[in-house]
Amino acid sequence: MSTEIITTDHLSKFYGSVRGIHEVSIKVPAGGVGFLGPNGAGKTTLIRTLLGIIRPTKGSAQVLGYDIKSDINQVRDRIGYIPEFNTSFIPDMTAMKFVAFCGRMNGLANSESKQRASDSLYYVGLGEERYRKLGTFSLGMKQKVKLASALVHDPEIIIADEPTNGLDPTGRNQMLELIRNLQTDQTKHVILSSHLLRDVEQTTDYAIVFSEGEILAQGKIKELTSGRRTSVSVKVKYNEEEFVRILKSKGFEVWDEGGFIEVKKSNDTEKSIFSTAYEAGTEIRYLGSRSSTLEDVFVDLFRNKEGIK
Ligand SMILES: Nc1ncnc2c1ncn2[C@@H]1O[C@H](COP(=O)(O)OP(=O)(O)O)[C@@H](O)[C@H]1O
Ligand SMILES: [Mg+2]
Repeated sequence: MSTEIITTDHLSKFYGSVRGIHEVSIKVPAGGVGFLGPNGAGKTTLIRTLLGIIRPTKGSAQVLGYDIKSDINQVRDRIGYIPEFNTSFIPDMTAMKFVAFCGRMNGLANSESKQRASDSLYYVGLGEERYRKLGTFSLGMKQKVKLASALVHDPEIIIADEPTNGLDPTGRNQMLELIRNLQTDQTKHVILSSHLLRDVEQTTDYAIVFSEGEILAQGKIKELTSGRRTSVSVKVKYNEEEFVRILKSKGFEVWDEGGFIEVKKSNDTEKSIFSTAYEAGTEIRYLGSRSSTLEDVFVDLFRNKEGIK
């Protein structure tokens, strides 16, 4: 588990003057990894560079020890790729035909491609529907067909780029579960690229965080999101200044955030807030807890980044 599956060294890709990725040097650990970042952060650019679909402007990368410039065929053999945008399926083609075709494109013999296509479609839960035409499939089913075709040549690494886009909650959960299970059932390495923290959290333990073409942070998701400020939001009916003064005198860290009094959470914060309200001669009008969202994580990471600059 301690070995890396992908390493990049000062990898950059510019589209003319537009930065796709800039000086990305990472080691992607074996197992499951999330590429996490807002839209435009460079996730797809990195993936497409690793697959040799686009050429880097600068730098180098290896996938399972194979260089993306000199050994791209070896690299492609070892990666199953679920692209971000909808594959243009031929509506009259059956799922079996499509996935078997992908198998042959990846160098499988005819009979093997059929067997593997059938196995892959069963794995993603479309065994019964495998002879149905793609034109009749829902978006969720099409995403599963994409996953089946990424699996057909039995690659060691699966890269799924925003695979839940446009899916309803059921479809989303099914897709993420399939991707998560690939790590354990099939001992594949999985890279899930997403702008949603909850998608990544649900699928992998480890994340690499992208921002504006650069790597902002990487590590266990629990560690990236822990130690973060969690606070309680309060509104009081009157005597706000006095309420804040007493809270501060009790050693609480208090600040204003969008009209709410934010109180840094520690033990018994809520209890102290109520007793302080009583002491200040006021009443609590609102009390809520802010939890850690992707936005919070980004905001905090950005703050740190800005601080370093
Ligand atoms: N084909 C392209 N031509 C020009 N600019 C592009 C192209 N693809 C991506 N970009 C730009 O590169 C940056 C990174 O985009 P992308 O890799 O798609 O990010 P993400 O996948 O994280 O949303 C963005 O500013 C985007 O507009
Ligand atoms: Mg993308």
